Amino acid sequence: MITPSTIEQIKNRLDIIDVVGEFVKLKKRGTNYLGNCPFHNEKTPSFTVSPTKELYKCFGCGKSGNTITFVMEHEKISYVDALRWLAARYNIEIEETQVSEQQKQQFQIADSLFVINSFATKFFDNQLFNTEDGQAIGMSYLKERGFREEILKKFQIGYNPQSRDTLAKALISNQFNKELLPRTGLVTVRNETELVDNYRGRIIFPIHNISGKVIGFGARVIGKAINAPKYINTPENELYVKSRILYGSYFARTAIDKQDECLLVEGYTDVVSLHQAGIENVVASGGTSLTIDQLKLVKKYTNNLTIIYDGDSAGVKAALRGLDMALEEGLNVRLVLIPDNEDPDSYVNRVGATAFQQFIKDNKKDFIIFQLEVMLKDAGNDINQKNILVNHVAETISKINKAEDFIKQQAYIKQCAAILKIDEGGLINLVNKLKRDKVVKDEKKTTAAEISYQNEADQYPPEQQEEQTLFISPDEKHERNILRVLLEYGLNPYDETQSIADHIFSEIKPFPFESPEMIKVLEMYRSQYEQGLRPSTKSFLYTEDQTIRDLVINITLFPYELSSNWDKMYEGKTITKVDTMDNDILMSVNYYKLKKLKKMFDQNQADMEVASFDNQLLLLRIHIELKEVEREITKKLGTVILK
Ligand code: GTP
Ligand code: MN
Repeated sequence: MITPSTIEQIKNRLDIIDVVGEFVKLKKRGTNYLGNCPFHNEKTPSFTVSPTKELYKCFGCGKSGNTITFVMEHEKISYVDALRWLAARYNIEIEETQVSEQQKQQFQIADSLFVINSFATKFFDNQLFNTEDGQAIGMSYLKERGFREEILKKFQIGYNPQSRDTLAKALISNQFNKELLPRTGLVTVRNETELVDNYRGRIIFPIHNISGKVIGFGARVIGKAINAPKYINTPENELYVKSRILYGSYFARTAIDKQDECLLVEGYTDVVSLHQAGIENVVASGGTSLTIDQLKLVKKYTNNLTIIYDGDSAGVKAALRGLDMALEEGLNVRLVLIPDNEDPDSYVNRVGATAFQQFIKDNKKDFIIFQLEVMLKDAGNDINQKNILVNHVAETISKINKAEDFIKQQAYIKQCAAILKIDEGGLINLVNKLKRDKVVKDEKKTTAAEISYQNEADQYPPEQQEEQTLFISPDEKHERNILRVLLEYGLNPYDETQSIADHIFSEIKPFPFESPEMIKVLEMYRSQYEQGLRPSTKSFLYTEDQTIRDLVINITLFPYELSSNWDKMYEGKTITKVDTMDNDILMSVNYYKLKKLKKMFDQNQADMEVASFDNQLLLLRIHIELKEVEREITKKLGTVILK
């Protein structure tokens, strides 16, 4: 693992303008730089890079992050690889620490499995192309199905002979570790010590990871599967983690990127046949429901996922199950069903590539609409069923929760209301309610969640979690403002005796923060400050906690948005950045206090209604005191009407 000191060195040397500038043409605008966002298509630039804050944010698509996450996202590489990339760029020598004994062992096992798989792939290939059996049994079957040699070569498709242990013997004579061999699934142990082949007499489809290394195999019987499973797959091991694999992703990635669409089919043979027909942006799920990891893999290359299944396959239901997750990932999911008991493989072979593509184009159905129509048909005239259906649809639509997808959501509501013949306003209300419920639930989850990091690569997941700007409560807004002012001016002197940070801490002491994330940032700031560490935006940009990183980025990049309300409240006085450090501090602190006071009033009022007479007197006194504080604050602020 890369040592912390190397990471530190890399971070110190980073120049965000230099790095981003390599990929994006940047123009200076004030203190920031502006360019066309590399993460979405745009004609007017809204991609902003701040050299002082060392971060970027696109105001169009919402992507934001630091130099490291930029490299990760842009190059589609892991955190560790981004560090290596940057180290190479800045000529920094990478020091690696000793990894734990257990980790080392795992890496070693993974490495050995790669070597064994690679050997086996060549072995199978040789069997298919260069042996009598391979040709007579394997190749003739593949040819009969219409596969041509060049496509078999490309996908490294092979053949495992029928005899008991041809592969096992080859592996042993090449001195592979006997203990390890069964882990690959290629061979099994018989009679305690004997190794025999597992995929006897089968066609072998090697499964590649995204960089083209073989991580496992799918082995198909030749002809009809009668007393044996049609496919046998590699068991889960250090390399083969089914939930993360999309068959064909290595061969499809550039085409997916280029066409901005990923086709998803069920089977290995579907992928290979479509490739052969020249349709290369296609991957296979292996017939199970999609996992979040698979969707994230797709999301790296495109937002458009088109699922092509055969009409009556059980796979359709399985696939639909995972799709709410896809919506949450912001994917546009469409569905095409191939008719008449055919699958993409047989269909493309029968009609050819052009007709196939035309069919997909004409029959692509939006997943939400598709699902709705299927369920509506099932529901018939049953009012109860229809009710359940409305709720289900609202639930699905509410999963589209990224700020930039707002318009998409509105369009769905319109369409679904029309299909269901219900009032649009009612559906809007229902969706909004579900969204609010979810925000509340998520907040609870975040507070309770213990954030742990399993490994280095997980520390900086490339997917930026989108902030739900739509649902920032007014309270949070004022807490954010306090944090912004702290980050921006905290270390400057307030007067002869104290810094602005000191001042803010003492001002807000009677009114503690409420949002768990804001509390986290505030307390991190406070602790760094108290240790004399001079906290600034930068000190938060590389913390492990992504919520905090995103929060701080948003706080620092949206100052004007945050103060836009003040303009209204501040009667015509426009606040510009130049004339405002004092104003800014005064206003953010006092509006914050006013907001909290207002809450106390309300609470007080509520208490008063149920209190005994004595307590009412006490509460009245508190009320008067609160009023007094409010008057003082409003005086400081000039004119304010507290709503
Ligand atoms: P062909 O029938 O040769 O065209 O294969 P296919 O890839 O079209 O298979 P099918 O449509 O029946 O199944 C889709 C996918 O599900 C396959 O590619 C496999 O990944 C998986 N699958 C199908 N049958 C089995 C099985 O018996 N065992 C396992 N592990 N996976 C299977
Ligand atoms: Mn098939």
